Amino acid sequence: MMQIAILGFGVVGSGTAEVLTENKKRIEAHCGEEVSVKYILDLREFPEHPLGDRVVHDMEIILRDPEVVLVAEMMGGSHPAYEFTRRALEAGKHVVTSNKEVVASFGVELLELARANRVSYLFEASVGGGIPIIRPLQTDLASNEILSISGILNGTTNFILTKMKQEGAEFADALKVAQANGYAEANPAADVEGLDAARKIVILAALAFGVLIDPKTIPVEGITGITGEHTALADKLGGAVKLIGHTERIGDKVYAAVSPYFVPASNPISHVDDVFNGILVDANMLGRALFYGAGAGKLPTASAVVADIIDILSHRAEERKLPAWKSAKKEELADPADYACRRVYLFEGCPKCAAKAKVAFGTEECSFVCDGKFAVVTPVMRAKDAEAALAASGLDAVLMLPVLD
Ligand code: HSE
Repeated sequence: MMQIAILGFGVVGSGTAEVLTENKKRIEAHCGEEVSVKYILDLREFPEHPLGDRVVHDMEIILRDPEVVLVAEMMGGSHPAYEFTRRALEAGKHVVTSNKEVVASFGVELLELARANRVSYLFEASVGGGIPIIRPLQTDLASNEILSISGILNGTTNFILTKMKQEGAEFADALKVAQANGYAEANPAADVEGLDAARKIVILAALAFGVLIDPKTIPVEGITGITGEHTALADKLGGAVKLIGHTERIGDKVYAAVSPYFVPASNPISHVDDVFNGILVDANMLGRALFYGAGAGKLPTASAVVADIIDILSHRAEERKLPAWKSAKKEELADPADYACRRVYLFEGCPKCAAKAKVAFGTEECSFVCDGKFAVVTPVMRAKDAEAALAASGLDAVLMLPVLD
């Protein structure tokens, strides 16, 4: 029997116990032995839970117990999750996690520490909930250069945008439902202001390009400025507004950012709705591949945590090749002004103004979407060139969205 400990018995922690119980036989067949939860670390008691007698409140008990070979950290937040992860790795225990905040902020040193202690640090559940994306990037796509990764990386905001578009729901009401379903972060500001997606895109950028960028240094815009009018406008233009995390190389530098995009219906990401995530990877040999599935929620996310547990416990004799990331230096980061794409601008004005905008942006794609408002779609241009064109038009845009082609 192999003994593990669960840190944090919230949505994902309790889901992990459920997956381990529900699929016990299958997991045992993979690992060659039974996997048993010896401890659950939490501040609370769970007297009604079948594993309620495993609850402890002191991390030292877990660290000192040589029977515990693996720790599954699902506490959320940076502290004390980071310190507990360090201590567990130093104690020679494998660690798996769903905690994107810790991976995005401390991934470089924790991977290094795991290597030094000849244990694993795996984090499949940190991006895309239950969707396999971390392992495919490391293994199945290893023969490719990754050109770009773009995706819907936050289930809560996608759920909100979908409800606004399909049911005309109010932002606050849709958020409440997402919270009740266990999709949102403890502080949902991290979801709606884009920080959760920022943590995830820097993890994906690190897997693609080898450098881990501090998520606080990339351009991040959430969905708090998006209204029902904007989602209806996107519908009229033949697409949808989606919160997108995007990373690519610009020259020899790495660009990563999060913002609302207009996604035309021709892009499959446009049809990724509700709590689902969709991640488009563009690789130089494979071309484009779409990873799609439940991006948040108890059992989907827990299934990815348990996949990491199985991966480690079924290969214990082998030494794992963990990614060797470096912290990104300032000079390795692309200037956001150089990011090139098509853009949609929304203006208030008359046909004369529309004519001016068409000349300034060098486009014929211009349509009146409602009384007194027209939308212009630019050709592919760098952000700084688009800004110069806007200034030359002499117009004030009421909305600008990059286009995800
Ligand atoms: N709050 C996150 C989301 C949870 O909504 O995507 C999964 O990481």
